[in-house]
Order: sequence, then structure tokens, then C-alpha cells
Amino acid sequence: MEKKEQLKKVVAKEVLKYIETDMVIGLGSGSTMVYVIEEIGNAVKEGMIKRIYGVPTSFQSEILGREHNIKILDFNTIEKIDLAIDGADEVDPKKHLIKGGGGAHAREKYIDYFAERFIVVVDESKLVQALGQKFPVPVEVLPEAYRSVQKKLSNLGAISQLRMALKKAGPVITDQGNFILDAKFTSLDQPRQLEMNINNIPGVLENGIFTRTVECVLIGSYSDGKAKVIRI
Ligand code: A5P
Repeated sequence: MEKKEQLKKVVAKEVLKYIETDMVIGLGSGSTMVYVIEEIGNAVKEGMIKRIYGVPTSFQSEILGREHNIKILDFNTIEKIDLAIDGADEVDPKKHLIKGGGGAHAREKYIDYFAERFIVVVDESKLVQALGQKFPVPVEVLPEAYRSVQKKLSNLGAISQLRMALKKAGPVITDQGNFILDAKFTSLDQPRQLEMNINNIPGVLENGIFTRTVECVLIGSYSDGKAKVIRI
């Protein structure tokens, strides 16, 4: 297995320490969450934990959850989410995040923000000193408004590009049927303010800056040639 995949797997196993019988879990999206959902599913199958309910943040996590013994719940039918678990594209020292590399940040945000507790699962390549260093901010927009949103984003200091699909002609279409603009900001030193400012642009559904309190970040890291987990 490739090194990065090993780190994701070791982090996914660590997540089991946070899961208890009867929990309602927000199921994040992305390649790290594939391992997490698989680990939770295996733990249910082996009877280590029982009755785990999942609220998915994407079609990806909904399908995976169903395949892995997790009972899927509709967000509108639940009173609370005990714990949300999700990946990230960047994590800064204050545990602020950029998310949305997989285009799922709109549902991820309302589910992760609603949860009573929120933990983040990443490999060490995701740690940055300041947000925006490696990754642009994904912004989900109504298709008919993408040009006007681009202009407003440029007033906020960003150059943005329409995200193009790889195995489909034209732009990426989100699970909600919208477009994504990837916005590269010259400065991202006030993430909470920027998170609000972007969402104030008419035509924007949600952006990938996450500033809610994170209980902990589980980081897959190599030391002495071994894959380990660091918790911050
Ligand atoms: C999905 O849109 C994202 O927010 C993911 O959670 C994020 O991109 C991390 O994904 P990986 O675990 O694949 O790096």
C-alpha cells in the first residue's frame, strides 16, 4: 500500500476510540473517510459496537455507509448528531480548515457545524502555517450566477476558476446540481471573516473555509519509518 494510504488507514483505526454504541455520526466525505467508514462498518459487523447511525455529507458517504452496516438517516429527521468526522484539505495551527476538494463542502458544513463534537482526520501533508498556502477555497455557486460570483470574489481579492470535470465534458456538477469555483486569495489571514463574506455573495451556496471548533485533529504521520497518529 502506498505510504499516504497507510497514513489514512492508521488514522481511520484511531477513530474507533471515539465511537460508541447508539451514536449518530456525521459521515464526512473524501478518500480518508473511505477508510473511516470501512473501519466503523467492520467494528459493527464484528459486534464491537452496535447500532451506529450515519448522516451522510455526500452521495459518496451515503453509498459507503449503506455498504458498511451503518444505518443511514435523513438529516431532517434527527434531533442531534453526537459526533461528526471529516477529512480536510488544509489545517492551520488554530485548527481552521479548508475543505471541498471533493466538492462536498456544502453538506459537510451544515452537518459538521450541527454536530455536538467534530473531529478531523488527515495525513501530515495537510498541515499548513496559514490557510490558502496550497489549496484554493472551493465555493459552490448556482450555475446561472457563476460569472457574477467570480466578479465579487475578485473584489474580495481572489482569482477564481470554474472547476472542470475529469471524466465528463464541462464543469464539475455537485451533489446539489451546482458549479464550483476554486478561489485563490492573495491573503487569507482572517478566515472567519472571509468565510462570512464569501457566503454573503448572492448566488453562493457555501464555501470551504471551516472555522467551527474542532475537538481534535487526528494526523497520520511517519516517524522512525512507522505510520503513527498524532492528536492535536
Ligand atoms: C470533500 O469535499 C472534502 O471536503 C474532503 O473532506 C477533503 O477534500 C479531504 O479529502 P481527502 O481525505 O480525500 O484528502
